[in-house]
Amino acid sequence: MELMEAIKGRRSIRNYTSKAVEDKTLNTILEAARQAPSWANTQCCRFIVVRDSQLRNKLADTAIETVKGKPNRGAEAMRITPVAIVACAEMRKAGYYMKEPGGPVTDKGDWYMYDVALAMQNLTLTAHAMGLGTVHIGAFDAIKVAEILGVPEGFAVVAMTPLGYPDEAPNPRPRKELNEIVFYDKFGGEQG
Ligand SMILES: Cc1cc2nc3c(=O)[nH]c(=O)nc-3n(C[C@H](O)[C@H](O)[C@H](O)COP(=O)(O)O)c2cc1C
Repeated sequence: MELMEAIKGRRSIRNYTSKAVEDKTLNTILEAARQAPSWANTQCCRFIVVRDSQLRNKLADTAIETVKGKPNRGAEAMRITPVAIVACAEMRKAGYYMKEPGGPVTDKGDWYMYDVALAMQNLTLTAHAMGLGTVHIGAFDAIKVAEILGVPEGFAVVAMTPLGYPDEAPNPRPRKELNEIVFYDKFGGEQG
């Protein structure tokens, strides 16, 4: 699949079949995440592949509703899909001077969220290009997930996704027009 086709065609998938995901397919998707760029190539990202259904249910139990009174449908999907992927990051790597005692290089502190997002974007686009579905899940109790999966001190759980074969083909969500988000020369500046 051509890159722009994958970018435009990917959707958040919240309904899945229970069809198995082959190891080879899974490895290709994880390899895409591995190839993502990172701060000074520090590669803070770690991925936990969760196949066990009891664990997947426990992960779903940590979800926080994004609309009050409604279940977090992305997180609920992890009860169905054969695989869930949990993205973690080693802290104090991205955005830090490389030699200790090095503090953060910029006013943003730790750039781990940025690095994980880049890797997850590679992962979700590759999954889509291979006919699989994903949905970024951010609304959950990351501390509880760290406990469930034995994530050690110094690492943060950032995001999760179910991974499986879609049982829906959602319409694209609306996006702002380019002229609402792109400026020229100055914030708010229009193309001359
Ligand atoms: C950082 C982040 C966190 C998200 N968290 C959730 C979530 O907890 N549950 C969920 O169902 N969808 C979640 N989403 C999916 C968004 O709702 C979805 O990407 C957005 O509505 C656009 O739809 P699309 O992905 O189909 O283009 C999240 C997306 C991002 C980027």
